Amino acid sequence: MSRHWEEIQRKLDSIKEKQLFREIKTYLGVDFCSNDYLGLATNSSMLEYYRSITDLYPFGSTASRLVRGNYDSMDLFENEFASFVEGEAALLVSNGFVANFGLIDSIAAPDCYVFTDRLNHASILDGIRISGAKKKYYNHLDLNHLQSLLQKADAEDPTKKHKRIVVTESLFSMDGDSPDFPNLLKLKEEYGFVLVVDEAHALGVYGKEGKGILFRDLPIESIKAIDYRVYTLGKSFGLEGGIIVTKQIGRDHLVNVMRPFIFSTAPLPIISKLAIFALGLVRSMETVRRDLQTLAKGLKDLLTSNGFSITNTASHIIPLLLPTEKEALFYAKRLQELGLDVRAIRPPTVPTPRLRISLNAKLTTQDTNSLTSALVQIRQEWNDLQIAS
Ligand SMILES: Cc1ncc(COP(=O)(O)O)c(C=O)c1O
Repeated sequence: MSRHWEEIQRKLDSIKEKQLFREIKTYLGVDFCSNDYLGLATNSSMLEYYRSITDLYPFGSTASRLVRGNYDSMDLFENEFASFVEGEAALLVSNGFVANFGLIDSIAAPDCYVFTDRLNHASILDGIRISGAKKKYYNHLDLNHLQSLLQKADAEDPTKKHKRIVVTESLFSMDGDSPDFPNLLKLKEEYGFVLVVDEAHALGVYGKEGKGILFRDLPIESIKAIDYRVYTLGKSFGLEGGIIVTKQIGRDHLVNVMRPFIFSTAPLPIISKLAIFALGLVRSMETVRRDLQTLAKGLKDLLTSNGFSITNTASHIIPLLLPTEKEALFYAKRLQELGLDVRAIRPPTVPTPRLRISLNAKLTTQDTNSLTSALVQIRQEWNDLQIAS
């Protein structure tokens, strides 16, 4: 083996030793892990609509949007989406990762400070890294800590030569919790930073018509003060794509400088058409949203009353905390063997191991009861194994 492959082998051995080796697996039973929160990926009217338009579009978009890859339906979707979330303009890109990564790289530079919640998604952290900006972590959801870092930055750079950018998710995908937005907006007023909010996991599920957590927690004037909002079609829309909502000049700027937008093939043409259709469905699904919250509350109560430890979640994402990677893997494997698709999430994706249980509209109370019974059974099996060994 050459030096390179020996190095790779050593890296993999070390990952395996730490119980952190990952493998790609296909569907493993009842869905307790996808982000298809409204069940739209297999929605029958979406499917019917999809079949009715397949003849109208080529498979691929054949070029970037700035060359020949743009379609009227993309422009139309952007306009409809921007007006849905009351933004000035929207930009459709390949996915949410590209949206965060490309956006932050485009607005930050080595002379900027980017303040990021410690648990922000990899696409945000990688965007900061590639921009060369100075990354300032604040503790998860801790706005006092953020404020102390902003004060420190002001003391060091009173003329604000360095631009300040603050980035946060609106619903943390691995913890199920959210920032205190009214107070974050107060800090924005006081310190004058650029604010980026990623609504990936909240779109479709929270706020009136599924407009997101910002619409649940803030008045419209405050939402309009947010410089950039990032959304994805890959979760509750059941599709694939990323959307950046900003001012018209913000969009013009991104179209001119955002490298993963400029130098990559446009999304499949049919996606924007389906996204317009999905938007209509999402808006009308108030009962589904309400039922999902009732289901989530029931499961959270059931898990805690059975002695399981969950994060401080206020959402349909219910991470069940386990002490070790080994235990998390054991639970996930046994659940899958019992026909329940729950996955173990381990470092470096999260700081501590857990089962990320995410609920969707297709699940019933019977499903969440079965999950709880299975977890109780598996806990017994794990304890028996510990006694035996
Ligand atoms: C908070 C957050 N933002 C962005 C993304 C990336 O979105 P996409 O899956 O559309 O690439 C994810 C993906 O899980 C995410 O959790």
